[in-house]
Amino acid sequence: MATATLDLQGLNFNLSEEHLAVQEAARDFAQNELLPGIVERDNEARFPAQQVKRMGELGFLGMMVSPDYGGGGMDTVSYVLAMEEISKIDASASVVMSVNNSLVCFGLEAYGTEEQKRTYLTRLATGETLGAFCLSEPEAGSDATSQATTAEDKGDYYLVNGTKNWITNGNSSGICLVIAQTDREKKHRGINCLIIEKGTPGFVVGKKEDKMGIRASDTHSLLFTDVHVPKANRIGDDGFGFKFAMSTLNGGRIGIAAQALGIAAGAYELALKYSQERKAFGKQIFDHQAIQFKLAEMATKIEAARLLVYKAARLKDEHKDYVQAAAMAKLFASDVAMWATTEAVQIHGGYGYVKEFHVERLMRDAKITQIYEGTSEIQKLVIARELVR
Ligand code: CAA
Repeated sequence: MATATLDLQGLNFNLSEEHLAVQEAARDFAQNELLPGIVERDNEARFPAQQVKRMGELGFLGMMVSPDYGGGGMDTVSYVLAMEEISKIDASASVVMSVNNSLVCFGLEAYGTEEQKRTYLTRLATGETLGAFCLSEPEAGSDATSQATTAEDKGDYYLVNGTKNWITNGNSSGICLVIAQTDREKKHRGINCLIIEKGTPGFVVGKKEDKMGIRASDTHSLLFTDVHVPKANRIGDDGFGFKFAMSTLNGGRIGIAAQALGIAAGAYELALKYSQERKAFGKQIFDHQAIQFKLAEMATKIEAARLLVYKAARLKDEHKDYVQAAAMAKLFASDVAMWATTEAVQIHGGYGYVKEFHVERLMRDAKITQIYEGTSEIQKLVIARELVR
């Protein structure tokens, strides 16, 4: 039964009872299980292992995967609703969730063989193990076609050598999707994506990054030295790897847009509450127009970001082209997140600058949403290309 309707460019947008139930479950989980200890985890850059285990038990790690492979069989709208609620509190936990759901599980389900799905997707969708998406390299960030990692064709296996950088779930994952160059002459059409399990000889977890934000998520370099990977672990046809990475990132960007939206909304909710508690010049600071104007502008921009995020999710659910919509949602929501969290710190004044009030963490967390899964500059490139396609 529909409980809220929004008609957006011909998209009939309904939030069902099921959507609202997912949203409430995510909100409860974030408040009750992610909020406790969050300042300490951030300070110590400690991976939320227990909380991620619970996310698996509650079905947040394979939300869109078919029940045939152990997933929740939900739509993308449900996923962004959950991402938003979890990101309001803990963006470190939500990036773990985002990478597992929309990069690794989605990529495997959309393009993997039946055997790959049975062997790997079932474990990822239930949270038995986590996935990592390994595209970035020391010299290949935005310029993702410049892969230095090689996957030499040795007949019935690939020999993988190279280094991947900035890998979310780098240490905590068990299954990695690794992009590597097989035939340099074919440029991006000579790139493959291989499924490589932790424990494979020659595969070593490297340095952990000491980050500004999302500090409790584990971001590592990964090192591959003469790693033997069976041909059966290649996703798609020979040379499909770059297309795989781009297609998967299109959907991943909806997840990060939802994360940015959640960070912005979380900071806004804290600022609104604080403005009604704190007094200055004899009245609540909310009653000062300077604060009201900030909150009004925050509420407006967050709502605009929400519409873009939901629109991208709905387009994906309706199997319509969502490449541009996803890029627009990420571009806009990440800018709103950076701006709104900065305003939330300002509204809190000196308290905003200390950790126990949470808004400084959200401000630090917001920054990465303008960088990972394609910088804001890359999103503009994607949007512009779609304008004339
Ligand atoms: N969707 C589907 N296919 C796409 C695509 C898209 N959005 N963008 C490009 N492609 C395809 C093209 O069609 C082309 O294929 P064909 O030649 O077969 O037609 C191929 O990819 C190469 O495209 P281009 O010639 O346009 O390549 P380019 O080098 O000029 O630009 C780019 C590509 C858009 C800049 C791309 O490199 C890019 O998106 N870079 C950003 C990479 C990125 O997002 N990295 C994030 C790291 S992952 C991460 O952050 C995860 C995490 O841990 C949180």
